Amino acid sequence: MSRLEVKGLHLSLREGNGFSPFVEDVNFTVEKGKTVALVGESGCGKSITCLSILQLLDPESIRIDRGSILFEGKDLLTLSQNELRQIRGNAIGMVFQDPLTSLNPVFSIGSQLVEAVQNHHSVSYAQAKEKAIQMLECVRVSRPDIRFTEYPYQLSGGMRQRVMIAMALLGEPRLLIADEPTTALDVTIQAQILSLLVELQQKMNLGILLVTHDLGVVAEFADEVLVMYAGRIVERAPVQDLFENPQHPYTKKLLASVLKLGGSR
Ligand SMILES: Nc1ncnc2c1ncn2[C@@H]1O[C@H](COP(=O)(O)OP(=O)(O)O)[C@@H](O)[C@H]1O
Ligand SMILES: [Mg+2]
Repeated sequence: MSRLEVKGLHLSLREGNGFSPFVEDVNFTVEKGKTVALVGESGCGKSITCLSILQLLDPESIRIDRGSILFEGKDLLTLSQNELRQIRGNAIGMVFQDPLTSLNPVFSIGSQLVEAVQNHHSVSYAQAKEKAIQMLECVRVSRPDIRFTEYPYQLSGGMRQRVMIAMALLGEPRLLIADEPTTALDVTIQAQILSLLVELQQKMNLGILLVTHDLGVVAEFADEVLVMYAGRIVERAPVQDLFENPQHPYTKKLLASVLKLGGSR
């Protein structure tokens, strides 16, 4: 059984009084232990596709029209809000681009992590703290005991991103949806964080849906690539094939722009 199977997904965006189709007939599968990269230019529909999986879209502005989103065989689109809450942050973890919008600025890192642990397990504060500190160590946050007492603004971008990943992994997810998790970071930190994700992936047999517009990241970390263009998947291939033999004009353009950048360095 596939970990995640999105079938015939259609999303519409509000336009005036009505909705007009935007994401059309999206199909893909993420197997356990594998990374599927979703690439495409800004505004093509990557984030709304990700958000639809856990139904984190505002129904006033974006509507799921059709399709099924099977997680380990169960259609998430048929679940109640309560059942979805059980899955969010537990079986399915999410990491977003900007940790400052996901971390609450008025609470310490520690209290947010403890709360995340206690949302998933009925454990004492001391046990939750121990688990939170272990997870901070696991994502290689330096001096985790000190970080635990600090506030988001006191951490560097890379550290905050690690905290976000720690938070997403605390529920021991089986699928991770990472929407441009390292885009805001410099290249070295980005590589460190992605390598860390791969290491955790192997340890936990995680399936990862990784949104990125960085083809270097794709080449290094993905098993399969989906290229999205104007709300449709226009090309899909194992990562090697895509780089060697791109088919769609948009994919060719994307690759050419990377090669040009590489050449001018
Ligand atoms: N919360 C929202 N409400 C209404 N429209 C949105 C919202 N989020 C994104 N959109 C629109 O959906 C389309 C796809 O956006 P998005 O999925 O964020 O693109 P990407 O992640 O590929 O850059 C865009 O036209 C964008 O303006
Ligand atoms: Mg996006």
